[in-house]
Amino acid sequence: MSLRTPYTLWSGIYDLGVERSTEDLRRRSLALLGQPRGQRILLAGIGTGLDLALLPSDNDYFGIDLTPAMLRHAEQRAQHLGLEIELRVGDVQAMELADAQFDAVIMHLILAVVPDTAAALREAARVLRPGGRILILDKFLRPGQSAPLRRFASPLLARLASRTDVVFEDALAKVPDLHVLEDRPAMANGWFRHILLEKS
Ligand SMILES: C[S@@+](CC[C@H](N)C(=O)[O-])C[C@H]1O[C@@H](n2cnc3c(N)ncnc32)[C@H](O)[C@@H]1O
Repeated sequence: MSLRTPYTLWSGIYDLGVERSTEDLRRRSLALLGQPRGQRILLAGIGTGLDLALLPSDNDYFGIDLTPAMLRHAEQRAQHLGLEIELRVGDVQAMELADAQFDAVIMHLILAVVPDTAAALREAARVLRPGGRILILDKFLRPGQSAPLRRFASPLLARLASRTDVVFEDALAKVPDLHVLEDRPAMANGWFRHILLEKS
């Protein structure tokens, strides 16, 4: 089952549940990009656009998401903020976008959501210019971490919102042109992490 159905249902209440609890995490994550100016930035799995209010206006933004209902909220938010953004319905695991066109890709709460984390990372790397950066905020298990409850619950949670058994290092190993610049705990004893990658 596609996640479009559950996220269509979540779209009306997503901000209520997520906005306040993630604002500080988003600020800290976006700070890793510095103060980008005149850059072309992709928000992969943009959702309702909760990052938009925290981003400087003088860049070119492009957002992609599987769920039209989530994108409608992102569109309204961008209009309210007076922020120019191009929004498109699409799958971050196979994006209909040309290679090497973005300076940065923001992947907040999307890599643990998609069924194939490595495919989404590979696509982000493909559309990124050499030297471009990927900003990740998400929940990942460490290699070898047992986490029995999270592994047990993951198949069900994956159908509703997000997987809870993704090992980031396993996905990254499949995308050799990306390397880690930063990897810091964000929340919940390091289950959530801030990760900054660079394309060689
Ligand atoms: C947890 S929300 C995160 C939204 C946003 N990035 C944020 O930080 O609030 C996950 C989003 O991923 C989208 N999504 C799920 N699977 C996707 C896919 N294969 N390609 C693109 N977007 C997807 C959902 O529609 C939803 O908007």
